[in-house]
Amino acid sequence: MQKTSPWRARARRSVLGPVGLCCLLGLATLAGCDGGAKTASAVPEKPAAVASAPAAPRDPFEPVQRPLSAAAQLGKVMFVDARLSGSGKMSCATCHDPGHAYGPPNDLAVQLGGGDLASPGTRAVPSLRYKDTTPPYADLLDNPDGVSVPGPGGGFAWDGRAATLADQAPIPLLAPNEMGNTSEADVIQKIRNGPYAEQFRQAFGAQVFDDPHKAFMQATSALQAYQLEDVSFHPYTSKFDRYAGNKIGGTLTAAEARGLRVFSNPQTGNCASCHYQGAGLNGASALFTDFSYEAIGVPRNREIAANQDARHFDLGLCGPDRSDHPPVAGNTFCGMFKAPTLRNVATRKSFFHNGAMHSLEQVLRFYNTRDTMPEIWYPTVGGKPKAQPDADFPTYGLITTQYVGGKVQKYDDLPPRFVANIDTQMPMDGRARHTKPPMSEQDLADLQCFLKTLDDGYKTQAADAPAPPAGSPCIQ
Ligand code: HEC
Ligand code: HEC
Repeated sequence: MQKTSPWRARARRSVLGPVGLCCLLGLATLAGCDGGAKTASAVPEKPAAVASAPAAPRDPFEPVQRPLSAAAQLGKVMFVDARLSGSGKMSCATCHDPGHAYGPPNDLAVQLGGGDLASPGTRAVPSLRYKDTTPPYADLLDNPDGVSVPGPGGGFAWDGRAATLADQAPIPLLAPNEMGNTSEADVIQKIRNGPYAEQFRQAFGAQVFDDPHKAFMQATSALQAYQLEDVSFHPYTSKFDRYAGNKIGGTLTAAEARGLRVFSNPQTGNCASCHYQGAGLNGASALFTDFSYEAIGVPRNREIAANQDARHFDLGLCGPDRSDHPPVAGNTFCGMFKAPTLRNVATRKSFFHNGAMHSLEQVLRFYNTRDTMPEIWYPTVGGKPKAQPDADFPTYGLITTQYVGGKVQKYDDLPPRFVANIDTQMPMDGRARHTKPPMSEQDLADLQCFLKTLDDGYKTQAADAPAPPAGSPCIQ
């Protein structure tokens, strides 16, 4: 079974095409790497309306917003409209906060929703940034790097079950533990009775409210139009974008440049093999995901209410939220989740599909030591806890108690019959316990510095700004 899995076949291939590599390694001025097309997409022409305004000096790197279509303007008001919820207190922006790269504003693993705002979710809230070019899910999606063989990829949500942004919107609107509306008609009634009903008629026709289902489809397409058209969802204003586009302020520090090498080195971090899509896609800049799915064995998060039932497992592609890959023994899709974009990842406070981790450093250490120190990530049963852990017992894991004897429950969020689906690529190559992990302390620090260059809103230092003090992190 393993040998025929598309992912296994893919894993043996080199994943960075020549163009991807030259961009990543800083040869951004080479032909094919200068990002001409992506610059055009990130910085659209000035709209005619502002062309006649007095020519104010403008950072040419700042993205310009084209006027929104009528549908997108509606989507914009709907996105922040808390009336569109059972509680009257929750909008899309409650969980996808524009001030937090359209990710969650807090460090909760899952959010609380529903009529009483007390019903817990089951998955961490992803950022809505850089989703505009995500293709619909397919079991055999061509890998955008142009080199790897096709495998499961694409789609929205951690399990790809929504094909488009418009298909995604009904999920939170109608989920009893999210916005908690009772039906499509319930949502449409709220729009019809609300302040932008007339705007809705103007955009979609005077009779639009006559058929609540059709009106609901228009409403979700409006939310999609907003996410596609508003530049705040794909601003490309990170330091990395300046670097990759060879723009002013785009010089990586020594630490960031080393971090980029760890990111793309197949022998250490190897992050690029899943979190980089080779050459720009559709003219856009690098997305830091190839939309692919893998099972990487994220530990079970016992804080999630649904996980209090020991028989409940969130298996990603195998459900429970999608049903087209049933969790029968031998199904190689079970346990796979989408490799999310790493843009703005350093702004997050909970990580992975189940929010099991709460700092980027912890995530990187998990990648590094899942195999060499599983006892700090997964529970041990049958052992005797030490009153005082040894001095060299790490404190950065999820489990800080050291045990004598017992058995580590590795991959505790995956039923044993699916453990063969766990990916074996670097940096989690299944190396023996208590051997040397793939990344050094320096590698980890540098990698974190590099990942921070993926945060949007980078501002170049003023020419007369004081130099950062010697020894600042992410400089030397
Ligand atoms: C209660 C919190 C909450 C609210 C409110 C909410 N979402 Fe989400 N959103 C989530 C979670 C959790 C996921 C991941 C779902 C999954 O994987 O099953 C998600 C996923 C998404 C995705 C897929 C992103 C990706 O990376 O694939 C989109 C798009 C999205 N939401 C749009 C919206 C829109 C539009 C609204 C308002 C109509 C909204 N959300 C309201 C919690 C929320
Ligand atoms: C084999 C493919 C693969 C490799 C290699 C890989 N990742 Fe991932 N990454 C994933 C998948 C799949 C997920 C989602 C897993 C889940 O939630 O169950 C993920 C999730 C993450 C997250 C959490 C993001 C969020 O929004 O919650 C971070 C951060 C991350 N990876 C960083 C890295 C870094 C840094 C490296 C290199 C050291 C790396 N990854 C290597 C596939 C990979």
